Amino acid sequence: MSTTLQPRRPRGTSLAARIGQSSMAARIEDEMRVTAADLVDSVAEARLKVAAVRYKVEGEVRNTAVKFKTRVSRAADGAKLKLGDEARFIKSWIDDPGRTGSVTPSSPFLARRMASFVDPAIPGPVIEIGPGTGPVTEALIERGVSEDRLILVEYSPEFCKLLRQRFPAATVVEGDAYALSGTLAGHLPEKAVAIVSSLPLFNRPPAMRSALANDAFTLLQDGGPLIQFTYSVISPVPRKGSGLKSFVSDWVLRNIPPARVWVYRKAV
Ligand SMILES: C[S@@+](CC[C@H](N)C(=O)[O-])C[C@H]1O[C@@H](n2cnc3c(N)ncnc32)[C@H](O)[C@@H]1O
Repeated sequence: MSTTLQPRRPRGTSLAARIGQSSMAARIEDEMRVTAADLVDSVAEARLKVAAVRYKVEGEVRNTAVKFKTRVSRAADGAKLKLGDEARFIKSWIDDPGRTGSVTPSSPFLARRMASFVDPAIPGPVIEIGPGTGPVTEALIERGVSEDRLILVEYSPEFCKLLRQRFPAATVVEGDAYALSGTLAGHLPEKAVAIVSSLPLFNRPPAMRSALANDAFTLLQDGGPLIQFTYSVISPVPRKGSGLKSFVSDWVLRNIPPARVWVYRKAV
């Protein structure tokens, strides 16, 4: 008996099986292609997102840097201005210590306290005497008194020049505040709401200070205040027999030296 050895067909390689395998392979390949394409899309999308975030962050960094730069340069300008004012003041004090009365401009705290006694809602001009480099002027504007209502009486021609540059809408009158009505002749369209004074009054005798106050009240509306700061503990305007009522603020410590603000009104 002869036996013919038939080659053994590997299991699962029937035609049907082979067709099944190749279609499965094709499906897997297709799926892999789709998955790969999805992956590419996702990577592209992620890249776009990263780019958008980077753009946003860079934009914010740029904006912050610009804001910071502006703030720093504004602070530097302010500091330069302040230093300039300090230098001007010292020069003015060296030229005439009695007239300047101080080696440094008033602080914004004292200036604001002075301005706080002016009611900006009452219409009419506001007179400032002895504005110097303008810290009280600034505080008055900040308080709501428009620049064109301000009449500034200053003795120093240098300060007048500076005030005209800084407050172009205000009326700057170069002259002597101790002859106030005469100095303001032709400059005061109506009676003033308030007179704010930084004059170093104690450098003048009491009679001259009283005369200044009397003159000031002829230029004020009824009830209008004369506002004056002083480093002294006593009233700079002699009160006895003045017919004035007065109020004094607490000490403004954030000023060199500390000062108080006196507010005088005609007693009715
Ligand atoms: C103590 S400083 C005050 C300056 C400014 N208001 C401040 O608070 O920094 C006095 C100012 O009054 C001015 N002044 C002095 N005597 C004056 C007078 N007779 N008429 C006008 N201004 C005068 C000075 O030139 C100076 O600017």
